[in-house]
Order: sequence, then C-alpha cells, then structure tokens
Amino acid sequence: MIIGVLNQKGGVGKTTIAINLAAVYARSGQRVLFVDADPQGSALAWSAARVAEPLFSVVGMAKPTLHKELPHMASDYDIVVIDGAPRVSELARSAILASDLVIIPVQPSPYDVWAAAETVRLVEEARQIKETLKSVFVVNRKIVNTALARAVYDALGNFNGSISDASLCQRVAYAESAMQGLAVVETAPRSEAAREITTLAQFLTSQMTTKARAA
Ligand SMILES: Nc1ncnc2c1ncn2[C@@H]1O[C@H](COP(=O)(O)OP(=O)(O)O)[C@@H](O)[C@H]1O
Ligand SMILES: [Mg+2]
Repeated sequence: MIIGVLNQKGGVGKTTIAINLAAVYARSGQRVLFVDADPQGSALAWSAARVAEPLFSVVGMAKPTLHKELPHMASDYDIVVIDGAPRVSELARSAILASDLVIIPVQPSPYDVWAAAETVRLVEEARQIKETLKSVFVVNRKIVNTALARAVYDALGNFNGSISDASLCQRVAYAESAMQGLAVVETAPRSEAAREITTLAQFLTSQMTTKARAA
C-alpha cells in the first residue's frame, strides 16, 4: 500500500503526519519505506536528527518520475509513505500518481479549505489515469472546543472527496518529538497524540481494504 500525503499548500502538516504515520506502521511490525518527495527535505532532516535506531528507511526522491520508479522499490515493503512536495505541480502530480491512497491534510481555517481545491484538482486529474486512486481529507491542528473544525468539515463537504473521521489536534508533542528525530508513538506512547495518530493509521488501512471508492 502506498500512502501519499499531499497538499499544494505548505505548513499544513504533511511531514508531521507522514512521519508519525510511518512510525505507527513500523512499530506494528510492518516493513515501511519513507519517501521524501519534497525538495526541501524535511523528512531527511528529521532522520538525520535521529540518534535512535531507524524505524524505517527514508529516501529522498523529489523527482517527477517518482511514479515510474517507485513500484519496483515498493514491492519489498508492506507500506510506503510519501511526504509530498507543495507548490511544484510536476512533483505533486507524480507523487499522487504513485499513491494508492492520497491523504490531504487541512487545517481548520478557511484559507486551507480554499487552497485544497488545487490539490483536489490534481487528484481528480490523476484519477483519469489511475481509476483506483483513493483520497481523503484529514483535519490537522484541530483546537478542541472550537466551532471552527465543524465549519471546516462542512466546507470540505463541498468538495467531491471523503473526510476522515480521524483527525489530529494541535499538540506540542508533534514538534517536540520531531526535534530528536522521533515520532510521538516513541516519545509519548500513552499520549493523546499517539492515540490520535494510531486511530488515523487504522482508519487509512481500513480505507484500503474497503472496495468502495473513498473519494
Ligand atoms: N497537529 C499539530 N500540532 C502542532 N503542531 C503541528 C501539528 N501539525 C504540524 N505542526 C507544526 O506545523 C508546522 C508545519 O508542519 P509540517 O508537517 O512541516 O507541514 P508541511 O510538511 O505541510 O509543510 C511544523 O512546525 C509542525 O511542527
Ligand atoms: Mg513538509
């Protein structure tokens, strides 16, 4: 299964979600490959900051031929997680085409909802070529007890795409763990952050095993 984390907007949580998801899958015993497809190389920097044993391999593949090269490499793994590039549509397009499931992180802000339209368009374009491609919005940095998240769910409903029931809240644990090249399931396995990312990982796996098109 190849999961691409994509959004043309920067700073929405692509790298945070990709790293923490990969860690959940790796800790559950799956063979995980992590592809840093963003020329900025944030995930490569994360892995360079890590002193602990690697949980999974991180390779840098910020190139528009990713979808052609990845299938050969992916066969040795149970799960491949792609941390997608923002802005450059050539790179995003290739990462989307390489994926079985695209997750689109969206922060609870109208700017994020509006900006998601471009990524949705790229996914729809890719679906012309790859009919089985699934996609799902994931709300990230939700602030508990605010009405904003509800408004964002409603606004996302206007797009032709499914929305994950599992979402992530605004939590300092994500940045704190990243500082040491670690994931929240490693630094704080009993935390709310670990619980919510594990729930998201399970939700995504269930999406891949259901026949119905997710979006
Ligand atoms: N759920 C969250 N709670 C708190 N901070 C977050 C969360 N998700 C992302 N961040 C922070 O937001 C910033 C941007 O996240 P990042 O994953 O780098 O986004 P992207 O890869 O889309 O550019 C980082 O500083 C990261 O630590
Ligand atoms: Mg990033």
